[in-house]
Amino acid sequence: MLKTLRSVVALRKFDWNARRRRLATCGNIDDLRRLAKRALPGGVFDYFDGAAETEWSLANNTQAFENVHLEPRVLVDVSTIDTTTTVMGQRLPYPFAFSPTGFTRIATSAGELDVAQVAARHGVPYTLSTLGTRSIEEVAAVSNGPLWYQLYVWKDRGLSRELVQRAKAAGYKAIMVTVDTAVFGRRERDVRRGFTLPPKIGLETFVDGIRHPRWTLDFLTHEPITFSAVSGRGDVDGSTAITLSDYVNSQFDASLSWRDLEWVRSESGLPIMLKGIQTVADAKQAVGEGVDCIALSNHGGRQYDGSPAPIELLPAVMDAVGGNIEVLVDGGVRRGADVVKACALGARAVMFGRPYLYGLGAAGQLGVEWVIDYFTSGVKRTMALVGARNLAELGGRATISSTGSKSSARPS
Ligand code: GLV
Repeated sequence: MLKTLRSVVALRKFDWNARRRRLATCGNIDDLRRLAKRALPGGVFDYFDGAAETEWSLANNTQAFENVHLEPRVLVDVSTIDTTTTVMGQRLPYPFAFSPTGFTRIATSAGELDVAQVAARHGVPYTLSTLGTRSIEEVAAVSNGPLWYQLYVWKDRGLSRELVQRAKAAGYKAIMVTVDTAVFGRRERDVRRGFTLPPKIGLETFVDGIRHPRWTLDFLTHEPITFSAVSGRGDVDGSTAITLSDYVNSQFDASLSWRDLEWVRSESGLPIMLKGIQTVADAKQAVGEGVDCIALSNHGGRQYDGSPAPIELLPAVMDAVGGNIEVLVDGGVRRGADVVKACALGARAVMFGRPYLYGLGAAGQLGVEWVIDYFTSGVKRTMALVGARNLAELGGRATISSTGSKSSARPS
């Protein structure tokens, strides 16, 4: 009997690393999100996870991928799969890059450094946000991978100039101008919680801190979180708690217009990507202005709630301007198959932010590694299953069956 039992039951080796053990129970990004929700204080999780107003755009971004269907070809030799692409003259090993995310140090004290290090290990571009909590130079010092710098244009143009020049001097390879944030979106979860940066400690935050001792210890034993782009400038560096919408609305330039792009380009001499294009008309205008690359994006549903899902917009944009500009898609990407669907509809690559934040919040660098592994294996598996040996072979092999599914269903 013992012999039979031994032949059918193999004991799993116990992993003494609790984070790795927990990651091993995750099958997809929703599972990782649940881990992050358990590991992070409510206000931190909601800032990363939440979106504007009804959060319809947030849900629709992801659901829209379900309407995209790939055409699977069989009996193709897929023993070797080439996932490489080029974006703004840079060769990327996989057709995805990490979107910029603000205040990453509220997940782990190393914050952006954790994410940039893991991205660099895999050659995945990492974009540092103007609202980052590690400086341009700190990130460059830990990364030998491709780095892009995301720019919000400050009312103080001298400051924007300085940031762009610092990014160039530190070896960043592109400037990504976010164009969907003339004013800050209303994120109602943050409003309800009175979320500020740095976080204000009230009774609720205190109790939350006790319930998340690992996070709290990390937070309390490291240097305070500040807006690193302006660190040392006591008036604006975040030494005084402020809501994000007050910060963005008071510091960034709502008068920014197409005319200012030439200024950004001449200051940096780097390729320019516009992130936040939401219409064919603006995609056309970007071509006319000589922009190198656009990212169709609605800021993960965090700005205008009701804008089209970027993946739904992609076919019309490709028809109108596809041959004249590089097009990326950002928003709702949760699987390797989503990356492949976007490429099949003509995108050069996709970008995502929440998935790596969930990984970071759930398990630090190990969690970000998990995310990269999940996406790279998902891209390769999907390409093999649809018989595409490289991204060019995907061209024209996706259709969108219906659009505009309206639902606010979110995993809880
Ligand atoms: C920052 O860009 C944010 O969306 O919170």
